[in-house]
Amino acid sequence: MKVAIYPGSFDPITNGHMDIVNRASKIFDKVIVAVLINGGKTSMFTLEERVELIKDSLIKNEKVVVDSFTGLLTDYIKENNIDVIVKGLRAVSDFESEFQMATMNRKLNENAETFFLTTDMKYAHLSSSLVKEVFRLGGNIEDFVSKPVLNAMIEKEVKDE
Ligand code: PNS
Repeated sequence: MKVAIYPGSFDPITNGHMDIVNRASKIFDKVIVAVLINGGKTSMFTLEERVELIKDSLIKNEKVVVDSFTGLLTDYIKENNIDVIVKGLRAVSDFESEFQMATMNRKLNENAETFFLTTDMKYAHLSSSLVKEVFRLGGNIEDFVSKPVLNAMIEKEVKDE
């Protein structure tokens, strides 16, 4: 049984992320979508809110579970006997940081292998950060995120006013 983890900030989950989860679930026996902290980013949603939004957005699939973790990805992998880290690659610009993270993770745990799935071109322009920026500036993000995420973003914005 091959278990994969798809880690990310998911602040919030986009349609591009959901496509990667869906495709990874066809390759691996179990996929853990794990919300982890990216120290370099400030967040819109709490870890708990992000987990709920992922659960509300994903199509029911018994191979997929959702979790969150606040420590090192390599510690989570060791504790949960995970075989592979799955990451999505959009463009060459992603490669540099992803290559660095994959190498660091393997330095921390020699068994931590990273498996890259290239994005479907229809999601190549998507990132959580851009979706948030477009939303804040009044752009239409309906094609980029699920209904639950859109509603949660509207609610956040109303609360912040
Ligand atoms: O969606 P992101 O922001 O590109 O995901 C990055 C993430 C959360 C996967 C990365 O920052 C991470 O693994 N954070 C957990 C803490 C950790 O292990 N840091 C060292 C990474 S080499």
